[in-house]
Amino acid sequence: MKILVVGNGGREHVLCWKLAQSPKVSKVFCAPGNAGIAEEFECVDIPVSDLNGLAEFAKEQRIDLTVAGPEAPLCDGIVDVFRAAGLKIFGPDKYAAQLEGSKDFAKNFMIKYNIPAAKSKTFNAFEPAAEYINSEFAAGEQGIVIKADGLAAGKGVLVADCAVDAIEFLKGCFDGAFGESGNRVLVEECLFGEEASILALVDGKTITPLASSQDHKRLLENDGGPNTGGMGAYSPAPVVDKNIMEQVTSQVLDNFLVGVKTEQLDFKGLLFVGIMVTDKGPKVLEFNVRFGDPEVQAVMMRLESDLADIIMKVVDGELADAAIEWSDDCAVCVVIASGGYPVAYEKGYEITGLDAAAATGAKVFHAGTSKADGKIVNTGGRVLGVTAKGSDIKTAISNAYSAVEKIHWQNCIYRKDIAYRALART
Ligand code: AMP
Ligand code: GLY
Repeated sequence: MKILVVGNGGREHVLCWKLAQSPKVSKVFCAPGNAGIAEEFECVDIPVSDLNGLAEFAKEQRIDLTVAGPEAPLCDGIVDVFRAAGLKIFGPDKYAAQLEGSKDFAKNFMIKYNIPAAKSKTFNAFEPAAEYINSEFAAGEQGIVIKADGLAAGKGVLVADCAVDAIEFLKGCFDGAFGESGNRVLVEECLFGEEASILALVDGKTITPLASSQDHKRLLENDGGPNTGGMGAYSPAPVVDKNIMEQVTSQVLDNFLVGVKTEQLDFKGLLFVGIMVTDKGPKVLEFNVRFGDPEVQAVMMRLESDLADIIMKVVDGELADAAIEWSDDCAVCVVIASGGYPVAYEKGYEITGLDAAAATGAKVFHAGTSKADGKIVNTGGRVLGVTAKGSDIKTAISNAYSAVEKIHWQNCIYRKDIAYRALART
């Protein structure tokens, strides 16, 4: 089987790596990939936005299965373009991808299918939204969440604990800080609790959760500082115990599947449910229609089954027959980012210690890296995901950091407390 993975991040690196372990896979291509992916697989210089170019390549190369990593090509309709060309691809079509692309679409779906989530209101203008924010704080709310209604690379959400901050962010939305995504804004009840990520495979008939995970969205230790794409992750997430998982399954996943069937959504892909475990049970913060990154790096380290086989079964509508086995080990992924991330950062510094890190037994997945003059340099905000397993969470943490400590470039940053919540529960 020949496989094409679309994207250039840590998620795509781990997907290439895991797919290539299948005895059925003869070749893995990645478009466009990054320096780390290029060391192991064949990278093709086609951007994720060139849907027709990607489909042409897949036809020419007789690709048997394409996996689209990031949300942008899915929301742009890569699945529709590939299907029209008679090509097999994993992911929802453009219409169903609105579950991630439009927070208003997702919220209406949650309400219609009784999926527990925060109360919210959608606004198309600044004044009524600002009035609503003021009235919520006046009524005693401790916080409020403002969400620009569209893809904003993880930056279109503010959790505010006062009306002044909330309204300033709201103004930015309507003044174009997030382009068209800010023309419509959701103002949402603030939920309190511990977050977790539930990744589930969906083929339209069956929904099957993968191992639980948790990421660390904030830049700084103790979950402080600004939100980022994710500074590290681990699996399993002990906050998702048997009882919580049963509630997620019956209230979220089963209802989601009812919605997919009733609305006849074309969804043969991956559903990522961001949940808040509140004292009233799990509530959905967001849906994404692709693997969470860095969560997928930790989750895939624990998958013992053949990922290519599983994904092919999803695409063929046979997910119910897939065998999905997990290692009992824990996995931890520590992200190393460029200094200054998530705002401005300097690029082009040589990264050293990659071989020494790999020699520890950890796997270094690349995100924002390129090759320049034969050297691997940082070119993105999140640069590497250093991922390791261990028989318990403490060992996995120690194994991941032993590898992290070998790696260096000028101004690189990482959190030293990844998985601290899991550790505290042991
Ligand atoms: P979203 O893109 O909707 O997942 O929001 C990004 C992040 O904002 C989430 O991972 C949470 O950390 C936070 N967040 C979103 N919605 C809420 C909410 N209703 N209450 C508290 N925090 C939230
Ligand atoms: N780690 C969160 C995300 O992938 O959206």
